[in-house]
Amino acid sequence: MGWNDWYQYGCQVSDQIVRANASAMVKSGMKAAGYTYVNIDDCWQGQRDAKGFIHPNDRFANMKELGDYIHSLGLKFGIYSSPGPKTCAGYEGSYGHEQQDADTYAGWGVDFLKYDWCSASKVYQPDQMQAAYRKMYEAIRSTGRPMVFSLCQYGLETVWRWGASVGGNMWRTTDDIGGDYNRVSLFGFQQNGLAKFAVHGHWNDPDILQVGLGHLNHEEQLTQMSLWCLLAAPLLAGNDLTKMTEETLQILTNPEVLAVDQDPDGVQGYRVSQEGPLEIWAKPLSGNAILVGLFNRSESAVRMEIPFKALGMNGPLQGRDLWQRKDLGVLQEHFFDEVPRHGVVLIKLKASSGKSGS
Ligand code: GLA
Repeated sequence: MGWNDWYQYGCQVSDQIVRANASAMVKSGMKAAGYTYVNIDDCWQGQRDAKGFIHPNDRFANMKELGDYIHSLGLKFGIYSSPGPKTCAGYEGSYGHEQQDADTYAGWGVDFLKYDWCSASKVYQPDQMQAAYRKMYEAIRSTGRPMVFSLCQYGLETVWRWGASVGGNMWRTTDDIGGDYNRVSLFGFQQNGLAKFAVHGHWNDPDILQVGLGHLNHEEQLTQMSLWCLLAAPLLAGNDLTKMTEETLQILTNPEVLAVDQDPDGVQGYRVSQEGPLEIWAKPLSGNAILVGLFNRSESAVRMEIPFKALGMNGPLQGRDLWQRKDLGVLQEHFFDEVPRHGVVLIKLKASSGKSGS
């Protein structure tokens, strides 16, 4: 769990912006809720010196000092590069400098590297992609400093099948998600079937949360957050943490919702059923519980129902609505509710010995 600057700041990102957001992560309660990584995306790079060492551009004074500041807040420091000569925004990539860059990052105290394919497609063939990622993984390993290794190549070459074997701790399964509900839901609901590739330390990554960025309404934001938690996805907030509304903060920090994303069993969810734009997803949780999301992708509110036998469970079950933070009592054979347009009802069910309820 953490934060990434890309969708809010793009190439305007600077030392000052990163510090302000790191500090806000603590003050806002995001850190207390579990958010830890402060990740700089593209556009921090300057030039290489005569010996080939990379330096930040003039929006960043000193990367080691920035890392020290982030660490002083009890947070972790993330950075970004490319296996190609240039990043997607045209800044210096790591091609031909992999070990040198990994050593530099380790010296700066980096804890996380997003490694974005971009111009690597100009110097490598698709069948060399795995080797290009493995090369950076080996370089990181030889520094002796643990770093989360985040593969970003937009889900090409069925990355979920080999991401872990090249040292990936997470791998993007989709193209860039930035945009409105159509894009977020297109990518999010496409994730079905990838559950078996997600294990502890190696996760499918459907990209950054769009909560608080202004393109999704309230229900649409609950949809992304719920689906990402069902998917056991990495949760990287993408908004300006220094100016969050109370609504944004509540969505990003609902403890019951975050707990199911971070469930110790680490199982990714799956689609239980689909009826046109109505989708029901489930995720097994520790303690014999199950998370269920009733998603309505249609243009008006719809009553949706989940019979427990579709989950392979028998009632009675105890229900809890995680967004309302309300107990639903003992439910006998099914659960139903009205789900708003583009919205979700997210419930946790667990075995009950009670006899009453519907
Ligand atoms: C690609 C990545 C994005 C972002 C940009 C930066 O498009 O997929 O997540 O890192 O590059 O240029």
